[in-house]
Amino acid sequence: MNSIQLDPQGRLKHFLGIEGLRRSLLLEILDTATSFLSVEAQVVKKVPLLRGKTIVNLFFEPSTRTRTTFELAAKRLSADVLNFNISTSSTSKGETLLDMLHNLEAMNCDLFIVRHEAGGAAHFMAQHVAPHISIINAGDGRHEHPTQAMLDMYTIRQYKGDFTPLKVAIVGDVLHSRVARSDIHALTTLGVAEVRVVGPTTLIPKGIETLGVKVFHRLKEGLKAVDVIIMLRLQRERMDSALIPSAHEYFQYYGLTEAALTVAHPQAIVMHPGPINRGVEIDSPVANGNRSVILAQVSNGIAVRMAVMAMTLGAIMEKKETHV
Ligand code: NCD
Repeated sequence: MNSIQLDPQGRLKHFLGIEGLRRSLLLEILDTATSFLSVEAQVVKKVPLLRGKTIVNLFFEPSTRTRTTFELAAKRLSADVLNFNISTSSTSKGETLLDMLHNLEAMNCDLFIVRHEAGGAAHFMAQHVAPHISIINAGDGRHEHPTQAMLDMYTIRQYKGDFTPLKVAIVGDVLHSRVARSDIHALTTLGVAEVRVVGPTTLIPKGIETLGVKVFHRLKEGLKAVDVIIMLRLQRERMDSALIPSAHEYFQYYGLTEAALTVAHPQAIVMHPGPINRGVEIDSPVANGNRSVILAQVSNGIAVRMAVMAMTLGAIMEKKETHV
């Protein structure tokens, strides 16, 4: 996948997944995002970096946070944005994905942000678009969700500084989670001390240890002394059989309560990609509590997505000239 994501100079052309990307590139994304945070603080929250570019949000699955933060990011870079409501578009009239892509290409679009229920969809599009077009994966099936991973890494660095001493636990429905997979690749590439996955046997993929993580089936053991807790939503829409007895029972064993949190490091932060299910994977007092950085994740998502858009469109050199 690396070869298709990078141009011959090793710069980001598409952003399809974290797997295989080098550490320096991940750090470059984080540093570029930092440079965009000042835009957020301005009275007029806009820089002209992507003026004249057209960015298309192609969402084949429902999304609020991810789609709106991509849209805001594009607008803050002065790009024009098209939002495609796929259920009303012609794919529901039998047009193939590729026909649709080529039509959008003919309208001189520059960047497609793609969310699709099929793993590999963004990669497939990147293989078939015209050479001047970039693709960003906004979540493909259970495969990857790379911008979510980068905003997670941004948030961890913001609160914890250095990655290397950290112990990080990813808790819940790892099996169906593209966020878990992208986070694992990002955390191991950035060199954290330990990545744990915690959940019932039915929700932890077999052989996940080969990605460099430790598996725990008991919450209290998995959370012991960790610095960062990433909670995952139960992805019931992706479950084709009963993998958990009931939401109530799941909460008893794997729900993050204030009591469960006491075994973690006293300064541990609590993260969640959203949407959160209160009383299923996370208790309200924890979600609202002072260890929760869930809303900081949402805010950081804008700067991180600005960074990835600017980098894939090769606008970063221009940025140094126009946005001091
Ligand atoms: C995640 C996703 O879509 O994979 N959400 C998101 O991007 N905000 C996680 C989830 O849906 O649980």
